[in-house]
Amino acid sequence: MKNTFYITTPIYYVNDKPHIGHAYTTILADVLARYHREAGQDVFFLTGLDEHGQKVQQAAESRNITPQQHCDEMAPRFLELWEKLHIQYDDFIRTTEPRHVDVVQQVLQKVYDSGDIYMDEYEGLYSVSEERFITEKESESGEFRDITKLKEKNYFFKMGKYQQALLDHIESNPDFIQPKHRKNEILGFLRNPLGDLCISRPKSRLNWGVELPFDADYVTYVWFDALLNYVTAPGYKSDDETFKRWWPANYHLIGKDILTTHAVYWPTMLFSAGLPQPKSIFAHGWWLSGESKMSKSLGNVVNPLDLIDEYGVDPVRYYLMREMVLGQDASFTIDSFIKRYNSDLANDFGNLLSRVSTLITRNFDGNIPELGNPTETDKTIALEGEKTVKLVQGLIQKMRLNDAIEETMQFIRSVNRYMEQQAPWKQVREDKDAAGRTLYTAAEALRISALLLHPVMPSRTQVVLDTLNTRDTSLKWGRLIAGTELVKHESLFPRIDVKKKDKVQESAKEEIPAEPENVVTFDEFQKLKLRTAKVLEAEKVEGADRLLKLQIEVGDSKRQIVAGVAEFYTAESLIGKMIVVVSNLKPAKIRGIESNGMLLAAKKGKQLTLVTIDSDEIGSGADVN
Ligand code: ME8
Ligand code: MG
Repeated sequence: MKNTFYITTPIYYVNDKPHIGHAYTTILADVLARYHREAGQDVFFLTGLDEHGQKVQQAAESRNITPQQHCDEMAPRFLELWEKLHIQYDDFIRTTEPRHVDVVQQVLQKVYDSGDIYMDEYEGLYSVSEERFITEKESESGEFRDITKLKEKNYFFKMGKYQQALLDHIESNPDFIQPKHRKNEILGFLRNPLGDLCISRPKSRLNWGVELPFDADYVTYVWFDALLNYVTAPGYKSDDETFKRWWPANYHLIGKDILTTHAVYWPTMLFSAGLPQPKSIFAHGWWLSGESKMSKSLGNVVNPLDLIDEYGVDPVRYYLMREMVLGQDASFTIDSFIKRYNSDLANDFGNLLSRVSTLITRNFDGNIPELGNPTETDKTIALEGEKTVKLVQGLIQKMRLNDAIEETMQFIRSVNRYMEQQAPWKQVREDKDAAGRTLYTAAEALRISALLLHPVMPSRTQVVLDTLNTRDTSLKWGRLIAGTELVKHESLFPRIDVKKKDKVQESAKEEIPAEPENVVTFDEFQKLKLRTAKVLEAEKVEGADRLLKLQIEVGDSKRQIVAGVAEFYTAESLIGKMIVVVSNLKPAKIRGIESNGMLLAAKKGKQLTLVTIDSDEIGSGADVN
């Protein structure tokens, strides 16, 4: 049996800066790589950049530099982020590197020689955003942007030829596509005949790519190029020992957005090239902000990466790993981050360390006390510790990372309860040996917990191990040596004081000088579309004393708005009035009633009066500015 573990992330596009989505998959791979490394396996962890293709060419053009310059400027940004996130990758591949271009051309030639590539003229819909031809149905799904009709002579890969082989492989390897619902998605996709894949782009249209070894007028399709990175890095050569040591990969980690390319294109390419299939392709869900996917296109969301500067990298790694159930989507909010931080890290984990070290320092001169003869209660903690180790190891194998973390936290919580029950601060006065037993047990529990969480939070857990002054990384219970002197430590996870934080922000606000009127620019003002509107109908909203539902006319269109003016106007008195509304306000539901706009009113204390138009002649729908 090979004791190797090869794990990959997608190689990310360099058309823009790295973002939270990239950070997430890479942290996940890092955590898994560390778990396997710490379990004694030889690990190869690969990440990198996808540097060819139309998007990169366009990004470079828009900046007036060459694509290579663009890539060379973007690459360090990713590397800096990986450093900041404490990512311990073994290789960082860039698809413009000669080692990769070489492999792509070798594989293309091999597939061509075997008769799996042919030339044909094709007309179809092409999505520039996804860089591939799409079906009619896909074009209607709304998921593809920049769709154009294209007619071209191109090279095609006989993907369809491998449909049955792929189905058989999925059938006989239940873990090939994970989680299960993604596997079913692919099986559903494969119920329809699998077409062939266009794998070339004429240089007249795109020249930023790997040239086809058998036709210099073409470059290869970016996905045919990109996927091969997974075999380039471990040293592609089908019969080479170093290559075989790592390939097939244990896990290709990906987001669900690139499932088809990985679970259909890639396996068929491997079949044709005569290479073994990866053991598992694992597609995780998306980080969402509200309802939308968090990525670079969403410039307006809080950048979770900013949290690193404020709270350190480990709490962010912890949050991302703990909060997402692998395979499902998860929502990112600052509130839930702070909650998790304060409850799990500050209250449970940090607190246990500070209690244990304080009590040992005060009562045992800072030396880890003897366990002596443990009681049944002490032994229960030891047993629970051993059980937790086994559970965590099993859960990691099953890719249930959030559960593995939660099991460890449960253990830490049970040790805190044990401390409450045993009350070593009282025990010292009555039976010092008993206090010693309790504190030894709790300290050993801390060591085990720190080791179990080490892959997730490598630097903070190192603080725990350094405090306990131990280098023993065995997960066997009872390795702490009595008499070892504790080392002073900084606070592990200082509580985030939400109230104080708000106050600080408020006082910061107060200190901002002048500009009390919240100055807006003319352009900003122009974004608001204020229009005249005529009230056609008005009625009270059932069960809401302050609300009126109005049907209004804005030029040629009619719409409904809900307004909180019932205390000042009767419904009837409004009909026929010419008012002013913000017409491009995002529609909202007020008490379940759709409201498409907002009327303007002047307000002072308990008085309110509508802004109305002084002339009948102007009519509804006129701009107000
Ligand atoms: O697709 N939540 O690169 P890419 C979670 N170059 N993960 C997210 C995410 C989100 N909101 N947004 C992005 C490409 N990701 C190709 C890959 S591989 C041979 C070529 C992560 O820069 C997730 O892993 O668009 C997703 O699959 C990947 O970033 C897409 O990165
Ligand atoms: Mg993408």
